[in-house]
Amino acid sequence: MNVPNEVKHSPARKIDIARGFGKARSSYESASRLQRVTGDAMLEKLKNRVGADGLSGCVLDLGCGTGWFTRKLAEAGHDVSLTGMDLSAGMIRHASVCGIPGVAWVVADAEAIPLPDKSCDLIFSNLMIQWCAGPQRVLRECRRVLRPGGRIMLSTLLEGTLNELAKAWQKADPDHNHINRFESEAGFRNTVLKELAGAKIETRTLRLAYTSPLALAAELKQLGASYKGEGKRRTVTAPGRARAMCQHYPRESDGGIMASYEAAWVYWVCDGAED
Ligand SMILES: C[S@@+](CC[C@H](N)C(=O)[O-])C[C@H]1O[C@@H](n2cnc3c(N)ncnc32)[C@H](O)[C@@H]1O
Repeated sequence: MNVPNEVKHSPARKIDIARGFGKARSSYESASRLQRVTGDAMLEKLKNRVGADGLSGCVLDLGCGTGWFTRKLAEAGHDVSLTGMDLSAGMIRHASVCGIPGVAWVVADAEAIPLPDKSCDLIFSNLMIQWCAGPQRVLRECRRVLRPGGRIMLSTLLEGTLNELAKAWQKADPDHNHINRFESEAGFRNTVLKELAGAKIETRTLRLAYTSPLALAAELKQLGASYKGEGKRRTVTAPGRARAMCQHYPRESDGGIMASYEAAWVYWVCDGAED
């Protein structure tokens, strides 16, 4: 497949991402407040679409993590053949013991989905795609495995996400990156509309409160979502730098902080009109 404008992530970076999430498998669900908000928004839409008949057919939860939403998808249907797929073997091991009968748990890369063409009725993907080099390969793969009439529902995070933290680190430790790179909204819209003609794209800024910047950093670690890109520190960040980052982070009147997340949702029906 030729995707000229997209830089492929090195295998090492993918291993790093998978390991990071694998290590966080036990703490992930207690920290995934943001993921609940973005995933619940898609579930709500899905329930409205399928109505009283409930969900049915072949459903893929792409980047399923611990399987939280795989379980919700199982509950939303009566005749669903579910696959939970994730890059992280640790996440898949954890998800597979959650007790939903009949789910196929698969360790695989969303950029090379090991499923036949036109085999899925729904692809649900919550906050996974921002971990890929770009959306194009994943969207092409999703389109390939979707049956005519099938549906894609996905969420991601765009540029501006964690911008308060990025700015505070920029002042405290200017020579190193501490925050992942996020796709610009314009670039994302462009790619989505090129790959999924007529897709509906919704965006919203979500703001979550934390007691301190260190609480935010701890939550990111619990999620396994620490920075994995080029320019990261190879050694532990000195406490003095972390203190400086905290001093630069804007405070609320109660002493706490807010973190911004630029969320985007994509809804598309294969060979159909805008959903
Ligand atoms: C923020 S978690 C979201 C997990 C789950 N969807 C949820 O809502 O709780 C992102 C997940 O995407 C997975 N992931 C990252 N890159 C991936 C890729 N290229 N292919 C498949 N899964 C990937 C990670 O291992 C992680 O489990």
